[in-house]
Amino acid sequence: MKAHIITYGCQMNEYDSHLVQSQLVSLGADMVDSIDEADFVLLNTCAVRGKPVDKVRSVLGQLRKEKAVRPLVIGMMGCLAQLEEGQQIARKFEVDVLLGPGSLLDIGAALESNQRFWGLHFKDELHDHIPPPPVGKLQAHLTIMRGCDHHCTYCIVPTTRGPQVSRHPDQILRELESLLGAGVREVTLLGQNVNAYGFDAGARLAGYPSFADLLRLVGGSGIERIKFTTSHPMNFTEDVAVAMAETPAVCDFVHLPVQSGSDRVLRRMAREYDREKYLTHIGQIKTHLPDAVLATDIIVGFPGETEEDFQDTLSLYDEVGFDSAYMFIYSPRPGTPSYKHFQDLPREVKTERLQRLIVKQKEWSARRNARFQGSIQEVLLRGDAYSAGHLEGHTRGNHPIVVPRAIGAEGAGLYRARVTATTPHMFYGELVGADNQALPLLPNLAPEAAALSSPLMMV
Ligand code: 5AD
Ligand code: SF4
Repeated sequence: MKAHIITYGCQMNEYDSHLVQSQLVSLGADMVDSIDEADFVLLNTCAVRGKPVDKVRSVLGQLRKEKAVRPLVIGMMGCLAQLEEGQQIARKFEVDVLLGPGSLLDIGAALESNQRFWGLHFKDELHDHIPPPPVGKLQAHLTIMRGCDHHCTYCIVPTTRGPQVSRHPDQILRELESLLGAGVREVTLLGQNVNAYGFDAGARLAGYPSFADLLRLVGGSGIERIKFTTSHPMNFTEDVAVAMAETPAVCDFVHLPVQSGSDRVLRRMAREYDREKYLTHIGQIKTHLPDAVLATDIIVGFPGETEEDFQDTLSLYDEVGFDSAYMFIYSPRPGTPSYKHFQDLPREVKTERLQRLIVKQKEWSARRNARFQGSIQEVLLRGDAYSAGHLEGHTRGNHPIVVPRAIGAEGAGLYRARVTATTPHMFYGELVGADNQALPLLPNLAPEAAALSSPLMMV
């Protein structure tokens, strides 16, 4: 079998695609790079907003046409697959295999059955499953929990991914060890709400550390960079900021979605915190991690959001001074409380607010990024950048960076670079050396290059 997976949505979906891909490979499948070469095409879907759903519809339309002229098995997994909306789409577009986020390990049974197979159960076995590490990659995701116990009124995720289930710390450490063994240097711990790790259904699980202690535990493993996403302000504790400050491997990067700066809107979203509580957490982060890079998510045009509410969001942005933000127009999702009970705002109002927010974000990103000008940053270089003769990577604060190729930096790895210019979206820099004490060069570098000491010569 020749299989091709297309992934939409969040990092959790990327992790799940990797998990399913490794199952397929163990069943003897060859992974191919395009739909044309594949006889099994699997879409890993996202349902959080309308746009990714429309995208899946259009790709499935294309696949149905292909299926009419050649043998093709169509699969759909991920959040949309779990919803009635997704199942209707699957029927319409003749999807053969449908796997919800809790049934991914059924992929083998699904393909063996040789008939239409729909798996929609949340199965415990998934939490103990350790996928093989990615091959030749410096970065990896590690799921520490699945699902979400919150019920934000706009969000479909608690329906698609079910209630929160934390993975046992032993499983997390075993998976981390396997990633380390495969040469991974940066791990992102994933969960819908990592701050609630170890507190499923609101109760502390015996034998599970708090998230702050999990950071300390993972920080002692030898991995060089740890990031995590995503946090919920409701469950954020000061100890997380303390653990970050104490644990050198944990990067000073915090993604703390605020969604709105208006208490009235936050209440209607059922976010379970107010502006003041959010700002208290930001204060704690800034106290313990003065250089922290702060990112957030904001939804504009939530039903009932007035101009005054939106102004509260703009003023909160100024008060925090976020380094970056993911900004979304509210998208009514069938099955969510806000879809059922609230009236959507006119599209023009929502897009106009988004544009004003983007202006704010760009100003702040420009200002915040400029503070790194001239600094030395540890960068994880992945490979060739779009512009010839350059390599691309990212800093510990998640800033994308481009550097000219240098002798000694032909391979992917962790290097040090001086930031020479910044824009709201990018850093530009030059390599100043490989830290070959704490940050050994990867073995795929040429031996003579590895022997070079800093500063690296530019070529
Ligand atoms: N409409 C717009 N944005 C949404 N998000 C979640 N649900 C919706 C929705 N219905 C955003 C939130 C969340 C991010 C992953 O997606 O900002 O943090
Ligand atoms: Fe959705 Fe809220 Fe859970 Fe995040 S915390 S996944 S926004 S319900």
